[in-house]
Amino acid sequence: MSTRSRIATVVATAVALLVLSIAAGFAFIYSGIYNVSASSKDNPIVAWMLHRTYEASLHRYGGKDVAPADLMSLENIRAGARLYDSTCALCHGAPGQPLSPVGQGIQPSAPSLLAATRRNNPPLMFWVIKHGVNMTAMPAFGKTQSDDTIWQLTAFLYKGRGITKDQYDALKVAN
Ligand code: HEC
Repeated sequence: MSTRSRIATVVATAVALLVLSIAAGFAFIYSGIYNVSASSKDNPIVAWMLHRTYEASLHRYGGKDVAPADLMSLENIRAGARLYDSTCALCHGAPGQPLSPVGQGIQPSAPSLLAATRRNNPPLMFWVIKHGVNMTAMPAFGKTQSDDTIWQLTAFLYKGRGITKDQYDALKVAN
């Protein structure tokens, strides 16, 4: 076989494989085999892929915004606690409160952001809160909240790790 016809065979095989995989992709989509219901947990492989993609994206795009100098002021932490209670607790939960029907129903479920073991790095949290997480229930709050407000949420998430019910209740009403 001449070099030329060998190259032609390789190219034809590659094109055939490409067409076949595109066809297989469409067959998968239109077959309805993939169960999209949110009532059962994701397949562990799908869950792993989604989570790794999220973490890699967060570390690639997030963490570049610069926090205000007074980030950890009591005023910011309190404002963050109030907004957390009215807007975030329904999905992420709050100490001593049952999780709302929304929080119980979403898949993947929202992590408990106030757990003592969390890192809650403010610039990374800022990015997630501002831009949301596509294909999950996490909304992009940058569409409705100012950067200052989002920084206040990050201050509360950082200082609120491991918070007790009494501390939480006191913080969210204080002004
Ligand atoms: C409708 C439900 C819902 C609401 C309301 C919501 N979130 Fe989320 N949030 C989620 C879900 C689901 C995830 C997990 C996304 C994933 O699996 O990658 C998430 C993820 C996050 C993360 C990333 C956590 C991590 O470990 O990287 C942060 C930070 C966050 N949310 C903050 C907030 C804040 C602050 C608010 C309120 C202003 C809020 N969320 C409101 C559903 C919600």
